[in-house]
This record gives sequence, C-alpha cells and structure tokens, in this order.
Amino acid sequence: MDKSNNPIGLFDSGIGGTSIWKEIHCLLPHENSIYLADSKNAPYGQRPKQEIIDLSIKNTEYLLDHGAKIIVVACNTATTNAITELREKYKDVNFIGIEPAIKPAAIHTQTGAIGILATKGTLSSELFTKTVSGFKNIHVVEQVGYNLVALIEDGRINSPEIKELLKEYLKPMIEARIDHLVLGCSHYPYLIPQIQEILPKDVKIIDSGEAVARQTKKVLQSAGLLNPSLDKSHQVFYTNSDPQVLNSILKNRYTVEQQDF
Ligand code: SIN
Repeated sequence: MDKSNNPIGLFDSGIGGTSIWKEIHCLLPHENSIYLADSKNAPYGQRPKQEIIDLSIKNTEYLLDHGAKIIVVACNTATTNAITELREKYKDVNFIGIEPAIKPAAIHTQTGAIGILATKGTLSSELFTKTVSGFKNIHVVEQVGYNLVALIEDGRINSPEIKELLKEYLKPMIEARIDHLVLGCSHYPYLIPQIQEILPKDVKIIDSGEAVARQTKKVLQSAGLLNPSLDKSHQVFYTNSDPQVLNSILKNRYTVEQQDF
C-alpha cells in the first residue's frame, strides 16, 4: 500500500518538539503531520529509563494507529533513552531521533570549551556519554536545566524565574569561556532570546532542528515515502493536557485537539 500521503508522526513530552516540527514543516511544507504533546506526563527528563521507554511506546502506538508513515522522536530525553528499544520493537518503522549537536560544536570551537544544556535523563544516558567520550580534547561543560521544561510547559517562557535559572546555569559556562552552547532539549529553542541576553555575543547557540528536518527528508526520500502531492497539507496537533500553551506557541494558527492518550 502506498503510504506517501500518510502523515509524519512526531511526539514529545510536551510542546517543545514543535521547535522540530516547525523546521520539518518549513523544509517539507506538503507533508501532512500529526504531533503528539504528552504534556500530562511532562517532564520526561527526571523519569527512570524504563518509564521513558514505556511512554515512548505508548506515543508510538498512538501515532501508528493514526497512520504515521515515519516517527520523529522530537524529544532528546526520549531519543537518548528509548530510540534503540523503539527500533528493536518496531522493525518495519523508520524512526528519526534528536541528539544534542555536540559534533558541530566540538569541530568549530576556538576556545576548546563548549557548553551543553539538557535534561538529567539526556545527560545521564548511555548514548550521550558515548558521544561526549569521543571528543577527548574538548572541555564540555554539562548542565542540567532543572525546572526549565516544567516552567515552559506552564507557559512561563518569559518569566523572571526562567531568567534567574538560566543565569545560574550559564554562569559556569561563561567562566569556562565556552564559544558554543548546545541546546540538548527540544523545549530550549524557545528560550534562545533569553539565553542570548545572558551569554557573550560571540557564543554560538546550536540546536538540532534543521539537521533533524534534513535527516527526515533524506529518510523519507530513500524509503520512497515523500508525499508527491502539492495540495495544502494537514497539520494535526493532539495534547493530553490543557491546549492553551500549545495554542499560544503555535500562535493559534492550527487546531489543537485535546485527546486521551
Ligand atoms: C523533558 O520532558 O524533560 C524534556 C524533553 C527533551 O529532552 O527534549
């Protein structure tokens, strides 16, 4: 059966993965998509690995039941803790994950120091530890972004609490003279304006959105799953919590439905 007209399925622990969805929609505007915001269970970052795997399976099942032709795990914590298990369980499904963009930062650093801001679940994962161990000559300043996801999910993106937390988390990085900051959580691109106010102007902020969009296109292309239709695409958003924050992130341009999943 030809699945090329089927939607791309994306899931995240909440609204953050919309930063990935935006890049994919920008690169592939004719692709239909379904986005799941599992906000009821956010944040994933402090949960044990098995719980993150179980939640990722639940989201995947829902997306596959809704005809998803590929699954984008638009959450760093779910990618680093569960993508191997998802690929083993659903052998016929293509999964795209998001990993912190350490490599480009490590290649381009001039000061030899880079910063990474991510959840506890991502920084303590085997996949992340393995990636970082490959860059022995680089000083990597790791910082858990405690409470940031909860505040973003609560709609407090521009709050003084977030600014104070960011100042505290970025201070050791500024002291270590980082010249690249890697955002290792799909929620954090929504904090870029606040982060830019705190970091010195010459520090480059890197997130994974564009690279994930390019990879999604490549995988769809090689699987023969790119949608050939030039019709207006359908973008569907489901949340299992209050839709207000997701609506405001999407500037009320799309319909967000509350569903039980
Ligand atoms: C979280 O749910 O803790 C954050 C999601 C992410 O790591 O992208």
